[in-house]
Amino acid sequence: MEATTPTTVSKLNIEQIRRDFPLLSRDMNGKPIVFLDSAASSQKPNSVIEAISHYYRFQHANVHRGVYQLSQEATTAFEVARDKVRDFIHAPSSPEIIFVRGVTEGINLVASCFGRKFLKEGDEVLITAMEHHSNIVPWQLICEEKGAHLRVAPINEAGELILEEFEKMLSDKVRIVATTHVSNTLGTINPIREMVAMAHAKGIPVLVDGAQATPHMAIDVQALDVDFYTFSGHKVFGPTGIGVLFGKEKWLNAMPPYHGGGEMIKTVTFEKTTYAELPHKFEAGTPDIAGVIGLGAALDYIQEIGLDAITQYENTLLAYAIKRLKEVPGIRFIGAAKNKASVVSFLVDNIHPYDLGTILDKLGIAVRTGHHCTQPLMDHFCIPGTVRASFAFYNTVEDIDRLVDGVKKAVAMLG
Ligand code: ALA
Repeated sequence: MEATTPTTVSKLNIEQIRRDFPLLSRDMNGKPIVFLDSAASSQKPNSVIEAISHYYRFQHANVHRGVYQLSQEATTAFEVARDKVRDFIHAPSSPEIIFVRGVTEGINLVASCFGRKFLKEGDEVLITAMEHHSNIVPWQLICEEKGAHLRVAPINEAGELILEEFEKMLSDKVRIVATTHVSNTLGTINPIREMVAMAHAKGIPVLVDGAQATPHMAIDVQALDVDFYTFSGHKVFGPTGIGVLFGKEKWLNAMPPYHGGGEMIKTVTFEKTTYAELPHKFEAGTPDIAGVIGLGAALDYIQEIGLDAITQYENTLLAYAIKRLKEVPGIRFIGAAKNKASVVSFLVDNIHPYDLGTILDKLGIAVRTGHHCTQPLMDHFCIPGTVRASFAFYNTVEDIDRLVDGVKKAVAMLG
Protein backbone atom coordinates (compact mmCIF):
# COMPACT_ATOMS: atom_id res chain seq x y z
CA MET A 1 0.00 0.00 0.00
CA GLU A 2 1.54 3.32 -1.02
CA ALA A 3 1.65 6.14 1.50
CA THR A 4 -0.06 8.94 -0.40
CA THR A 5 -0.96 11.97 1.73
CA PRO A 6 -4.62 11.28 2.48
CA THR A 7 -6.07 14.77 2.03
CA THR A 8 -4.68 14.98 -1.50
CA VAL A 9 -6.60 11.91 -2.65
CA SER A 10 -9.72 11.94 -0.53
CA LYS A 11 -13.08 12.49 -2.11
CA LEU A 12 -14.40 13.22 1.35
CA ASN A 13 -14.81 16.64 2.87
CA ILE A 14 -13.19 15.73 6.16
CA GLU A 15 -13.58 19.20 7.72
CA GLN A 16 -17.31 19.09 7.04
CA ILE A 17 -17.53 15.53 8.37
CA ARG A 18 -15.71 16.49 11.58
CA ARG A 19 -18.22 19.28 12.21
CA ASP A 20 -20.94 16.59 12.26
CA PHE A 21 -19.29 14.97 15.32
CA PRO A 22 -19.61 17.32 18.33
CA LEU A 23 -17.21 15.36 20.51
CA LEU A 24 -14.34 15.91 18.10
CA SER A 25 -14.32 19.62 18.88
CA ARG A 26 -13.66 19.22 22.60
CA ASP A 27 -10.33 19.45 24.38
CA MET A 28 -8.66 16.70 26.37
CA ASN A 29 -6.03 17.56 28.96
CA GLY A 30 -5.81 21.08 27.56
CA LYS A 31 -5.30 20.01 23.92
CA PRO A 32 -7.73 19.44 21.05
CA ILE A 33 -8.63 15.77 21.30
CA VAL A 34 -7.12 13.25 18.88
CA PHE A 35 -9.47 10.29 19.02
CA LEU A 36 -7.76 7.13 17.79
CA ASP A 37 -9.87 4.48 19.50
CA SER A 38 -12.75 4.01 17.09
CA ALA A 39 -12.18 0.24 17.05
CA ALA A 40 -13.31 0.23 20.69
CA SER A 41 -16.23 2.56 20.01
CA SER A 42 -16.72 5.24 17.40
CA GLN A 43 -18.01 8.79 17.94
CA LYS A 44 -21.56 9.81 17.03
CA PRO A 45 -22.71 12.33 14.42
CA ASN A 46 -25.41 14.90 15.23
CA SER A 47 -27.93 13.08 13.04
CA VAL A 48 -27.76 10.00 15.31
CA ILE A 49 -28.03 12.07 18.49
CA GLU A 50 -30.97 13.99 17.01
CA ALA A 51 -32.78 10.85 15.80
CA ILE A 52 -32.69 9.41 19.33
CA SER A 53 -33.76 12.69 20.88
CA HIS A 54 -36.60 13.11 18.34
CA TYR A 55 -37.88 9.62 19.09
CA TYR A 56 -37.98 10.20 22.85
CA ARG A 57 -39.47 13.67 22.49
CA PHE A 58 -42.19 12.97 19.94
CA GLN A 59 -42.56 9.29 19.04
CA HIS A 60 -42.05 7.13 22.09
CA ALA A 61 -44.45 4.25 22.69
CA ASN A 62 -43.89 0.52 22.80
CA VAL A 63 -43.66 -1.23 19.43
CA HIS A 64 -45.73 -4.06 17.92
CA ARG A 65 -48.31 -3.78 20.72
CA GLY A 66 -50.58 -0.79 20.39
CA VAL A 67 -53.59 -0.19 18.16
CA TYR A 68 -53.18 3.52 18.80
CA GLN A 69 -51.50 5.88 16.35
CA LEU A 70 -48.42 6.67 18.46
CA SER A 71 -47.50 3.02 18.88
CA GLN A 72 -47.94 2.47 15.18
CA GLU A 73 -45.66 5.41 14.41
CA ALA A 74 -42.99 4.00 16.74
CA THR A 75 -43.40 0.56 15.16
CA THR A 76 -43.03 2.01 11.67
CA ALA A 77 -39.84 3.90 12.67
CA PHE A 78 -38.48 0.70 14.24
CA GLU A 79 -39.26 -1.49 11.21
CA VAL A 80 -37.95 1.13 8.76
CA ALA A 81 -34.63 0.88 10.62
CA ARG A 82 -34.69 -2.90 10.20
CA ASP A 83 -35.09 -2.39 6.44
CA LYS A 84 -32.12 0.01 6.49
CA VAL A 85 -30.00 -2.69 8.14
CA ARG A 86 -31.15 -5.21 5.52
CA ASP A 87 -30.05 -2.85 2.75
CA PHE A 88 -26.78 -1.96 4.51
CA ILE A 89 -25.58 -5.59 4.53
CA HIS A 90 -27.53 -6.61 1.42
CA ALA A 91 -29.52 -9.27 3.24
CA PRO A 92 -32.25 -11.00 1.25
CA SER A 93 -35.06 -10.12 3.67
CA SER A 94 -35.89 -8.09 6.79
CA PRO A 95 -37.09 -11.04 8.93
CA GLU A 96 -33.52 -12.37 8.75
CA ILE A 97 -32.37 -9.24 10.65
CA ILE A 98 -32.49 -9.85 14.42
CA PHE A 99 -31.82 -6.96 16.79
CA VAL A 100 -29.47 -7.87 19.63
CA ARG A 101 -27.38 -5.84 22.09
CA GLY A 102 -24.22 -6.13 20.00
CA VAL A 103 -21.83 -8.68 18.53
CA THR A 104 -21.31 -10.31 21.92
CA GLU A 105 -24.99 -11.11 22.19
CA GLY A 106 -25.21 -12.08 18.50
CA ILE A 107 -22.51 -14.71 18.94
CA ASN A 108 -23.92 -15.92 22.27
CA LEU A 109 -27.31 -16.31 20.60
CA VAL A 110 -25.93 -18.50 17.81
CA ALA A 111 -23.62 -20.47 20.11
CA SER A 112 -26.51 -21.19 22.46
CA CYS A 113 -29.34 -21.82 19.97
CA PHE A 114 -27.35 -23.52 17.20
CA GLY A 115 -25.31 -25.40 19.81
CA ARG A 116 -28.35 -26.68 21.71
CA LYS A 117 -29.86 -27.99 18.49
CA PHE A 118 -26.89 -29.19 16.45
CA LEU A 119 -23.88 -29.87 18.72
CA LYS A 120 -23.29 -33.24 20.35
CA GLU A 121 -20.47 -35.02 22.12
CA GLY A 122 -17.29 -35.27 20.04
CA ASP A 123 -18.33 -32.53 17.57
CA GLU A 124 -16.04 -29.60 16.82
CA VAL A 125 -16.41 -25.84 16.50
CA LEU A 126 -13.67 -24.19 14.41
CA ILE A 127 -12.51 -20.62 15.14
CA THR A 128 -9.27 -18.77 14.30
CA ALA A 129 -6.31 -17.73 16.46
CA MET A 130 -7.15 -14.03 16.08
CA GLU A 131 -10.61 -14.07 17.68
CA HIS A 132 -11.88 -11.57 20.24
CA HIS A 133 -12.90 -13.16 23.55
CA SER A 134 -16.52 -12.71 22.45
CA ASN A 135 -15.95 -15.25 19.66
CA ILE A 136 -14.13 -17.69 21.96
CA VAL A 137 -15.90 -17.83 25.32
CA PRO A 138 -19.51 -18.42 24.08
CA TRP A 139 -18.22 -21.43 22.10
CA GLN A 140 -16.27 -22.73 25.10
CA LEU A 141 -19.43 -22.56 27.19
CA ILE A 142 -21.56 -24.53 24.75
CA CYS A 143 -18.75 -26.99 23.93
CA GLU A 144 -18.35 -27.71 27.61
CA GLU A 145 -22.07 -28.28 27.99
CA LYS A 146 -22.25 -30.58 24.97
CA GLY A 147 -18.92 -32.39 25.24
CA ALA A 148 -17.80 -30.81 21.97
CA HIS A 149 -14.31 -29.44 21.21
CA LEU A 150 -13.09 -25.99 20.23
CA ARG A 151 -10.47 -26.06 17.46
CA VAL A 152 -8.32 -23.10 16.47
CA ALA A 153 -7.03 -22.46 12.94
CA PRO A 154 -3.50 -21.00 13.10
CA ILE A 155 -2.12 -17.68 11.84
CA ASN A 156 1.30 -16.73 10.49
CA GLU A 157 3.75 -14.16 11.88
CA ALA A 158 2.13 -11.37 9.85
CA GLY A 159 -1.13 -12.16 11.64
CA GLU A 160 -2.84 -13.72 8.60
CA LEU A 161 -4.92 -16.88 8.69
CA ILE A 162 -3.06 -19.86 7.18
CA LEU A 163 -5.80 -20.79 4.74
CA GLU A 164 -4.43 -24.26 3.86
CA GLU A 165 -4.37 -25.19 7.57
CA PHE A 166 -7.87 -23.84 8.00
CA GLU A 167 -9.09 -26.00 5.11
CA LYS A 168 -7.36 -29.08 6.54
CA MET A 169 -9.13 -28.55 9.88
CA LEU A 170 -12.59 -28.68 8.26
CA SER A 171 -13.11 -32.30 9.24
CA ASP A 172 -16.43 -34.11 9.23
CA LYS A 173 -16.64 -33.43 12.97
CA VAL A 174 -16.86 -29.65 12.51
CA ARG A 175 -20.45 -28.40 12.91
CA ILE A 176 -19.84 -24.66 12.56
CA VAL A 177 -17.02 -22.19 11.74
CA ALA A 178 -16.95 -18.90 13.66
CA THR A 179 -14.48 -16.26 12.47
CA THR A 180 -13.86 -12.58 12.67
CA HIS A 181 -14.05 -10.59 9.43
CA VAL A 182 -11.44 -8.06 10.59
CA SER A 183 -9.17 -8.56 13.61
CA ASN A 184 -9.71 -5.83 16.23
CA THR A 185 -6.08 -6.09 17.34
CA LEU A 186 -4.21 -6.65 14.08
CA GLY A 187 -6.51 -5.14 11.48
CA THR A 188 -6.16 -8.31 9.36
CA ILE A 189 -9.01 -8.72 6.88
CA ASN A 190 -9.88 -12.40 6.56
CA PRO A 191 -10.71 -13.92 3.16
CA ILE A 192 -14.31 -14.64 4.15
CA ARG A 193 -15.54 -15.61 0.67
CA GLU A 194 -12.83 -18.30 0.33
CA MET A 195 -13.33 -19.52 3.91
CA VAL A 196 -17.08 -19.83 3.36
CA ALA A 197 -16.59 -21.69 0.08
CA MET A 198 -14.23 -24.16 1.79
CA ALA A 199 -16.61 -24.70 4.71
CA HIS A 200 -19.70 -24.99 2.51
CA ALA A 201 -17.93 -27.60 0.36
CA LYS A 202 -18.08 -29.74 3.52
CA GLY A 203 -21.64 -28.65 4.40
CA ILE A 204 -20.44 -26.54 7.37
CA PRO A 205 -22.17 -23.19 8.12
CA VAL A 206 -20.13 -20.06 8.91
CA LEU A 207 -20.72 -17.27 11.42
CA VAL A 208 -18.81 -14.02 10.86
CA ASP A 209 -18.09 -11.39 13.54
CA GLY A 210 -18.37 -8.17 11.54
CA ALA A 211 -17.74 -5.74 14.42
CA GLN A 212 -14.54 -4.35 12.93
CA ALA A 213 -15.47 -4.71 9.26
CA THR A 214 -18.79 -2.84 9.08
CA PRO A 215 -17.32 0.62 9.89
CA HIS A 216 -14.75 0.31 7.11
CA MET A 217 -16.07 -1.57 4.07
CA ALA A 218 -19.23 -2.41 2.16
CA ILE A 219 -20.73 -5.72 3.29
CA ASP A 220 -22.80 -8.03 1.12
CA VAL A 221 -23.89 -11.08 3.09
CA GLN A 222 -25.29 -12.69 -0.06
CA ALA A 223 -22.07 -12.27 -2.04
CA LEU A 224 -20.09 -13.59 0.95
CA ASP A 225 -22.70 -16.36 1.34
CA VAL A 226 -22.28 -16.29 5.12
CA ASP A 227 -24.83 -18.14 7.25
CA PHE A 228 -24.64 -15.66 10.14
CA TYR A 229 -23.18 -12.13 10.24
CA THR A 230 -23.22 -9.95 13.34
CA PHE A 231 -22.20 -6.35 14.02
CA SER A 232 -22.51 -3.69 16.74
CA GLY A 233 -24.23 -0.32 16.43
CA HIS A 234 -21.68 1.58 18.50
CA LYS A 235 -18.80 0.73 16.14
CA VAL A 236 -20.73 2.05 13.11
CA PHE A 237 -21.30 5.51 14.61
CA GLY A 238 -24.60 4.46 16.20
CA PRO A 239 -25.67 4.00 19.83
CA THR A 240 -24.23 1.55 22.34
CA GLY A 241 -26.31 -1.44 23.42
CA ILE A 242 -27.76 -2.23 20.01
CA GLY A 243 -26.50 -4.59 17.34
CA VAL A 244 -27.55 -6.91 14.57
CA LEU A 245 -27.51 -10.61 13.89
CA PHE A 246 -28.22 -11.62 10.31
CA GLY A 247 -29.00 -15.30 9.88
CA LYS A 248 -30.12 -17.24 6.86
CA GLU A 249 -33.80 -18.04 7.26
CA LYS A 250 -33.22 -21.79 7.12
CA TRP A 251 -30.90 -21.66 10.15
CA LEU A 252 -32.97 -19.19 12.17
CA ASN A 253 -36.07 -21.31 11.60
CA ALA A 254 -34.23 -24.49 12.57
CA MET A 255 -32.88 -23.08 15.86
CA PRO A 256 -34.79 -22.86 19.15
CA PRO A 257 -35.45 -19.37 20.59
CA TYR A 258 -32.81 -17.64 22.73
CA HIS A 259 -34.83 -15.73 25.33
CA GLY A 260 -38.37 -16.55 26.32
CA GLY A 261 -40.91 -13.81 27.05
CA GLY A 262 -43.34 -11.40 25.48
CA GLU A 263 -43.35 -10.75 21.73
CA MET A 264 -41.58 -14.00 20.80
CA ILE A 265 -44.68 -16.17 21.10
CA LYS A 266 -47.63 -17.10 18.91
CA THR A 267 -49.70 -18.78 21.64
CA VAL A 268 -49.02 -19.55 25.30
CA THR A 269 -50.74 -22.01 27.58
CA PHE A 270 -49.31 -23.49 30.76
CA GLU A 271 -48.86 -26.72 28.85
CA LYS A 272 -47.23 -25.47 25.65
CA THR A 273 -46.00 -22.35 23.86
CA THR A 274 -45.70 -21.86 20.13
CA TYR A 275 -43.28 -19.30 18.79
CA ALA A 276 -43.71 -16.22 16.63
CA GLU A 277 -42.35 -15.99 13.10
CA LEU A 278 -38.96 -14.41 12.35
CA PRO A 279 -37.62 -12.00 13.43
CA HIS A 280 -39.85 -11.83 16.55
CA LYS A 281 -39.00 -15.39 17.66
CA PHE A 282 -35.56 -14.05 18.66
CA GLU A 283 -36.66 -10.66 20.01
CA ALA A 284 -38.27 -11.32 23.39
CA GLY A 285 -39.29 -8.33 25.52
CA THR A 286 -39.39 -4.62 24.77
CA PRO A 287 -36.47 -3.91 22.46
CA ASP A 288 -34.07 -0.97 22.50
CA ILE A 289 -36.35 1.08 20.25
CA ALA A 290 -34.31 4.29 20.47
CA GLY A 291 -31.14 2.29 19.80
CA VAL A 292 -32.61 0.75 16.67
CA ILE A 293 -33.77 4.15 15.39
CA GLY A 294 -30.35 5.65 16.17
CA LEU A 295 -28.66 2.77 14.37
CA GLY A 296 -30.84 3.43 11.32
CA ALA A 297 -29.71 7.08 11.35
CA ALA A 298 -26.06 5.99 11.64
CA LEU A 299 -26.37 3.70 8.61
CA ASP A 300 -27.99 6.55 6.64
CA TYR A 301 -25.04 8.74 7.58
CA ILE A 302 -22.47 6.18 6.43
CA GLN A 303 -24.33 5.48 3.19
CA GLU A 304 -24.45 9.17 2.43
CA ILE A 305 -20.66 9.43 2.71
CA GLY A 306 -20.24 6.16 0.79
CA LEU A 307 -18.39 3.06 1.97
CA ASP A 308 -16.12 2.91 -1.06
CA ALA A 309 -14.92 6.47 -0.42
CA ILE A 310 -14.49 5.60 3.28
CA THR A 311 -12.39 2.51 2.49
CA GLN A 312 -10.22 4.43 0.07
CA TYR A 313 -9.62 7.33 2.47
CA GLU A 314 -8.87 5.06 5.43
CA ASN A 315 -6.45 2.96 3.39
CA THR A 316 -4.39 6.04 2.59
CA LEU A 317 -4.62 7.16 6.22
CA LEU A 318 -3.38 3.72 7.35
CA ALA A 319 -0.46 3.71 4.91
CA TYR A 320 0.48 7.23 6.01
CA ALA A 321 0.34 6.22 9.69
CA ILE A 322 2.60 3.19 9.14
CA LYS A 323 5.06 5.25 7.12
CA ARG A 324 5.27 7.99 9.78
CA LEU A 325 5.38 5.59 12.75
CA LYS A 326 8.38 3.85 11.17
CA GLU A 327 10.31 7.02 12.07
CA VAL A 328 10.11 5.97 15.75
CA PRO A 329 13.32 4.08 16.67
CA GLY A 330 12.60 0.68 18.25
CA ILE A 331 9.01 0.44 17.02
CA ARG A 332 7.63 -3.03 16.37
CA PHE A 333 4.35 -3.47 14.54
CA ILE A 334 2.11 -6.35 15.64
CA GLY A 335 0.18 -7.45 12.58
CA ALA A 336 1.46 -6.87 9.08
CA ALA A 337 -1.21 -8.50 6.95
CA LYS A 338 -1.26 -7.61 3.28
CA ASN A 339 -4.99 -7.07 3.51
CA LYS A 340 -5.59 -4.81 6.47
CA ALA A 341 -8.15 -2.35 7.84
CA SER A 342 -7.27 0.88 9.63
CA VAL A 343 -5.82 -0.46 12.87
CA VAL A 344 -2.17 -0.12 13.88
CA SER A 345 -0.90 -2.11 16.87
CA PHE A 346 2.65 -1.52 18.04
CA LEU A 347 5.21 -1.68 20.82
CA VAL A 348 8.32 0.44 21.27
CA ASP A 349 11.41 -1.27 22.70
CA ASN A 350 10.54 -2.57 26.18
CA ILE A 351 8.22 0.27 27.07
CA HIS A 352 4.99 -1.01 28.58
CA PRO A 353 1.93 -0.12 26.47
CA TYR A 354 0.15 1.42 29.49
CA ASP A 355 3.03 3.84 30.07
CA LEU A 356 2.98 4.94 26.44
CA GLY A 357 -0.82 5.23 26.46
CA THR A 358 -0.79 7.29 29.67
CA ILE A 359 1.63 9.85 28.25
CA LEU A 360 -0.30 10.02 24.98
CA ASP A 361 -3.45 10.73 27.01
CA LYS A 362 -1.72 13.67 28.72
CA LEU A 363 -1.05 15.00 25.21
CA GLY A 364 -4.76 14.71 24.33
CA ILE A 365 -4.37 11.53 22.26
CA ALA A 366 -6.75 8.64 22.97
CA VAL A 367 -5.44 5.19 22.00
CA ARG A 368 -6.24 1.77 23.44
CA THR A 369 -3.60 -0.17 25.33
CA GLY A 370 -3.57 -3.74 26.62
CA HIS A 371 -4.64 -7.11 25.24
CA HIS A 372 -7.72 -5.76 23.43
CA CYS A 373 -9.81 -8.76 24.60
CA THR A 374 -7.55 -11.07 22.58
CA GLN A 375 -5.38 -12.71 25.22
CA PRO A 376 -4.69 -15.89 23.18
CA LEU A 377 -3.46 -13.67 20.33
CA MET A 378 -1.13 -11.85 22.74
CA ASP A 379 0.17 -15.26 23.87
CA HIS A 380 0.80 -16.17 20.22
CA PHE A 381 3.06 -13.12 19.82
CA CYS A 382 4.51 -13.60 23.37
CA ILE A 383 3.59 -10.06 24.42
CA PRO A 384 1.42 -8.68 27.24
CA GLY A 385 -0.37 -6.18 25.05
CA THR A 386 0.05 -3.44 22.47
CA VAL A 387 -0.66 0.22 21.89
CA ARG A 388 -3.43 0.34 19.32
CA ALA A 389 -4.36 3.33 17.19
CA SER A 390 -7.51 2.82 15.17
CA PHE A 391 -8.87 5.24 12.61
CA ALA A 392 -12.24 6.24 11.25
CA PHE A 393 -13.11 8.49 8.31
CA TYR A 394 -13.20 11.51 10.67
CA ASN A 395 -9.48 11.18 11.45
CA THR A 396 -6.92 13.31 9.66
CA VAL A 397 -3.27 13.50 8.68
CA GLU A 398 -2.87 16.00 11.52
CA ASP A 399 -4.18 13.39 14.00
CA ILE A 400 -1.50 10.97 12.81
CA ASP A 401 1.19 13.63 12.98
CA ARG A 402 0.13 14.38 16.58
CA LEU A 403 0.28 10.62 17.36
CA VAL A 404 3.78 10.25 15.93
CA ASP A 405 5.05 13.37 17.74
CA GLY A 406 3.41 12.07 20.93
CA VAL A 407 5.02 8.65 20.66
CA LYS A 408 8.41 10.25 20.03
CA LYS A 409 7.98 12.47 23.12
CA ALA A 410 6.84 9.52 25.25
CA VAL A 411 9.79 7.41 24.13
CA ALA A 412 12.19 10.25 24.95
CA MET A 413 10.70 10.42 28.47
CA LEU A 414 10.48 6.66 29.09
CA GLY A 415 13.27 5.21 26.95
N1 ALA B 1 -13.71 -4.96 20.90
C1 ALA B 1 -13.43 -3.59 21.18
C2 ALA B 1 -11.99 -3.23 20.92
O1 ALA B 1 -11.33 -3.89 20.16
C3 ALA B 1 -13.90 -3.16 22.50
O2 ALA B 1 -11.49 -2.31 21.49
